[in-house]
Amino acid sequence: MEDVAGRVLIDHALEAAKNAHAPYSRFAVGAALLLEDGTIVPGTNFENASYGLSLCAETVALAAANVAGRLKDVVAIGVVGGSMTTAGIEGDMPIYPCGRCRQILNEAADMGGRDITIYCASADGAILRRHLLSELLPHAFGPADLGIN
Ligand code: THU
Repeated sequence: MEDVAGRVLIDHALEAAKNAHAPYSRFAVGAALLLEDGTIVPGTNFENASYGLSLCAETVALAAANVAGRLKDVVAIGVVGGSMTTAGIEGDMPIYPCGRCRQILNEAADMGGRDITIYCASADGAILRRHLLSELLPHAFGPADLGIN
């Protein structure tokens, strides 16, 4: 069955990926958060000349949601990416959030008291996978462990 919410999020993520600042890896990633009222918050990877201090698309989107005071409202995220070519963003593999981004997603999940749905897609549109954060980051260390919330 077609996952409409997932496709909409991936469309927004692909649009965001066009603005990736990724001159070092030449790998563009886009993310789009879905908030509980239907608001979509985009993000894209943001590299710099230090290489190691680059920001992932998911982290940028989550930070933007936080700026708006909406971290607790995140219900889902779509992630997509691929190589930057003259023809556009190309790739046939679904993009999964890295470890740090999973941990930051867990911050939003903990604040909202809910699991977060994660859609991972390939840039060519052929693959769209649906997961829960609790599957991708089981036994997470979260704010509750520190007595926060
Ligand atoms: N990247 C993301 O933005 N999100 C991911 O889930 C994986 C990796 C970025 C980091 C770097 O700018 C580029 O992709 C290549 O690793």
